[in-house]
Amino acid sequence: MIHLTNIEKSFGSLEVLKGIDLEINKGEVVSIVGPSGAGKTTLLQIMGTLDRPDSGKVIVDGVDVSTLSQKKLSDFRNQHVGFVFQFHQLLPEFTALENIMIPAFIAGKSQKEAKRRALELLDFMGLTERAEHKPNELSGGEKQRVAVARALVNNPAVILADEPSGSLDTKNKGELHQLFFDLRDKFGQTFVIVTHDEQLASITDRTIHMKDGRILEEGGI
Ligand SMILES: Nc1ncnc2c1ncn2[C@@H]1O[C@H](COP(=O)(O)OP(=O)(O)O)[C@@H](O)[C@H]1O
Ligand SMILES: [Mg+2]
Repeated sequence: MIHLTNIEKSFGSLEVLKGIDLEINKGEVVSIVGPSGAGKTTLLQIMGTLDRPDSGKVIVDGVDVSTLSQKKLSDFRNQHVGFVFQFHQLLPEFTALENIMIPAFIAGKSQKEAKRRALELLDFMGLTERAEHKPNELSGGEKQRVAVARALVNNPAVILADEPSGSLDTKNKGELHQLFFDLRDKFGQTFVIVTHDEQLASITDRTIHMKDGRILEEGGI
């Protein structure tokens, strides 16, 4: 699903990723943990084609993304990768339903098709009643679930989540984490989740430990 080979990335003289090799398989829920500044967000952004490495190879859903032009890359991202961030990043002037539909419009889907898919996802999230509400009328947990629905609308190969439950209370955290596993069990959805939450990390299929721009070997922590 995702193959990273010897990824290196610097910002100026700061070496942030120092040779990362990583493989994520279809249907896996993988967590990435490590101290602040370890390079977790940078790695996730490179996996999601939001940033390019200085060297190394990134293959996502069978495509070597270094071969794609900027325009092709944004189409690729829209159709193959879903993102969930710590803060929902929903557009405030649009309803939950509209927020979920937007990536489908960008992908060229019809209004009817986009709405059908968005309603199906809202139903799966237990949010049908909230479809016509704007983000400021939704709880923190509801906003994050809408953000997950938006990430899923184009059936991405993988969802990349950067501290998705970082701003939620314990109950909403638990519900969001359960949702990831439900989506994996029901649809075979692949997830890569950067998290500080040890409880979540402990229930994922695999935990990648990062420190100072490198992946620590199993048992080497
Ligand atoms: N766009 C950028 N420009 C300069 N430095 C950056 C940029 N993005 C991240 N960094 C630096 O790279 C290091 C790793 O950042 P990041 O990948 O966000 O780590 P993490 O998510 O593990 O906390 C940090 O020292 C951060 O300040
Ligand atoms: Mg980060």
